[in-house]
Amino acid sequence: MNRMRFLVTAGPTREPIDPVRYMTNRSSGRMGYALAGAARHEGHEVVLISGPTTLDVPPGVDFIHVETAQQMYEAVRDMVRDVDVAILSAAVADYRPVHVAQQKIKKSEGRVLLELERTPDILASMREEFSFTGVLVGFAAETQHLISNAREKLLRKGCDMIVANDVSQPGIGFGSTENEVTLVLPDREIQLPRESKEWLAMRIVEHALTLLP
Ligand code: CTP
Repeated sequence: MNRMRFLVTAGPTREPIDPVRYMTNRSSGRMGYALAGAARHEGHEVVLISGPTTLDVPPGVDFIHVETAQQMYEAVRDMVRDVDVAILSAAVADYRPVHVAQQKIKKSEGRVLLELERTPDILASMREEFSFTGVLVGFAAETQHLISNAREKLLRKGCDMIVANDVSQPGIGFGSTENEVTLVLPDREIQLPRESKEWLAMRIVEHALTLLP
């Protein structure tokens, strides 16, 4: 196999509320770091664009640290040229505070309302906005109708493959070392066994490479 260029997004994003507070989610980044490590292990060139995690960057992987969805969007946009395979596994915040307070917000009596707006959808920007023509792999976290929801996401976001995660099952996915996923392709589905994220990452990278023209 020729040396290919991979771009992987991983981890959560952090959306600031004020200088000491932010909104985030439970993503550990493990699946994304395992994907970057697997592609590198197979001899490919890898850039990993990640939100904050406690993980070590796999050896030989180019690393870009970001905090917000907007920063991740800009990093992907700037790095996507000449990429052959893009795997977007980050748990990007869907919403961010409309106003970021410049000073720490002081408490007062009663309730407060935090107004949120949508962040850019990086995966959905890949084809038209970023003119990406390589193999595009997205993730879907679903609690019901796993395959049909993943298939809808595959079409809507112009992906070649969706890694579908049933997040209603205990002991897998967010924050754990194991996962159980189904690869959803335009014409078929491949159910992978419950395994370590490292093992699954190797299978996902292998399948993505078979989709190259
Ligand atoms: N994604 C992204 N940018 C965003 C949001 C999501 O790149 N702002 C990517 C994720 O990295 C993942 C896929 O899109 O590959 C997830 O799609 P999304 O529509 O966010 O689905 P879920 O979060 O799984 O669920 P829901 O449909 O309920 O929003």
